[in-house]
Amino acid sequence: MPVLPSGYSIRRVESSDYEGVVETLKVLTVVGDVTKEQFEETVAYWNEVTVKSKGESMKAYNPHVITDDSGKVVATGNVFIERKVLHDCGLVGHIEDIAVAKNQQGKKLGQLLIEHLSDLALSRGCYKVILDCDEKNVGFYQKCGYSIKGVEMDRRS
Ligand code: ACO
Repeated sequence: MPVLPSGYSIRRVESSDYEGVVETLKVLTVVGDVTKEQFEETVAYWNEVTVKSKGESMKAYNPHVITDDSGKVVATGNVFIERKVLHDCGLVGHIEDIAVAKNQQGKKLGQLLIEHLSDLALSRGCYKVILDCDEKNVGFYQKCGYSIKGVEMDRRS
């Protein structure tokens, strides 16, 4: 398993990460005109929402960033923990919104981020961790230990 290059670190998203997270997410898709206030409100919401399992409460949203030696955000991603009825009211982790800044791709930061988020979900008791991705990223997720299961579908407004 690769380790973070020297100077890089990984931590939970903070409300001060507005510019870094919004800029980084632009490599993934349209972010829209998200204001600093909207971002801060979203981070506060992520920090508030909990999921309870086997008498233990934990944060449902687990947004993370990787920063470089100057503290700049260079990658971001989230794992959401859902409680189900299935599997004895088990927990499932959903990996969401993974993005590595264009000039930082190819340094194993994406793989490290997926490893970190997957370990976090599994250590909280999730019986599986799942994600949806584009065909072009299948090879990346296979390198991260994920396998193809089923078909992704959506319906939009
Ligand atoms: N297809 C096949 N293999 C890949 C791909 C790919 N698209 N991208 C990376 N790999 C391989 C690398 O070559 C490397 O292989 P190696 O171990 O043999 O050297 C391994 O996967 C790990 O690569 P990383 O360096 O960790 O990849 P990187 O840091 O560049 O992150 C990512 C990959 C996240 C796909 C990045 O390119 C990115 O941000 N792309 C744009 C946004 C995006 O598509 N995000 C994923 C959305 S899906 C979701 O959010 C659930």
